[in-house]
Amino acid sequence: MGGCATNEEPPYPMMIRAPLKVFEQIDHGIFRVAVPFRLAGGLVDTFTHMMLVRLESGNSVALATVDVDGPAKTVDGGDTASGLIRADIDKLTDNGAKLEAVVATHSFHTVAYPSFYKAYPKAKYYGCPRHLRNQPEIPWAGTITDCEVQALWSPEIRFAIPPAAVGEFSDPADPATNHWNSVLALAGRTLFNDDMISYRIHPKELMGRIVVWVAGGEHEQLAFHGSMFHGGLRQNGEAPGLFVEWLEGLMEQWEFDIIATAHNGVLKRDGKSRLIALLEETKPKLEHCAAKWAKGEVETKNDPDDPSKSGGWSNNPRECECG
Ligand SMILES: [Fe+2]
Repeated sequence: MGGCATNEEPPYPMMIRAPLKVFEQIDHGIFRVAVPFRLAGGLVDTFTHMMLVRLESGNSVALATVDVDGPAKTVDGGDTASGLIRADIDKLTDNGAKLEAVVATHSFHTVAYPSFYKAYPKAKYYGCPRHLRNQPEIPWAGTITDCEVQALWSPEIRFAIPPAAVGEFSDPADPATNHWNSVLALAGRTLFNDDMISYRIHPKELMGRIVVWVAGGEHEQLAFHGSMFHGGLRQNGEAPGLFVEWLEGLMEQWEFDIIATAHNGVLKRDGKSRLIALLEETKPKLEHCAAKWAKGEVETKNDPDDPSKSGGWSNNPRECECG
């Protein structure tokens, strides 16, 4: 699961000039769209996202999916009209003919895959193990945990998942809260991830007070997902240190300025130094937890009566999907 990264230098694609309706070109040849993802009767909008990466061949690879016939988010947090996402993808991929593949990057970002597959059935689909188990109607071509799949577009797109000794990726528990473990992808100067790292833009105003109460969050804050310490990391004496080793090793190999996160925004500059600073800030807690967990003093993984103590997504066991 870990150890698939390469040291090859990636190419730097040319900026593509294409008038788009809702996708934003956040990097050379890299297009992202954010969409609403509402819960609790509309009180919460966690947002979710997808990205299209233009390869040197002219084909594109989609990282994650959204409802192509639903609305996108506007910069001020509103919703656009429906239908614009499909129009942009059609424009960027020659009506889907140049959409080479679709890669799922989070076990619980699932809801848009069936409709996306209906819209773009010619692409090859690569899922997390949970997608293959739960969505057999899609003819998955492989799993993103497979090193050969991770190498398919290297060095243009690289993938990494924390080693199995750090956290459970294939079948994370508790599914209602543990959304920390994610695929990290590097394309151009952009680090793409869904939930492990979040960059929050005006979270109280755009996502709702409940999100801020449960997950915390200030404007322009970069943070690790709250379930990191409530089941995301394996609760033993070694996992926290192995995570630091893994992430620091990755950052020695990967150069990036931009961090695109699902919930809710994009950090557009100094992404790598911000992530290094976040890891440094988090190290004392990681060390504290490693010492505690080594003695068997583990954290609450899920408290149905108090989601803020779950550090995570929801206290509803049926409400696992977050994108
Ligand atoms: Fe998510």
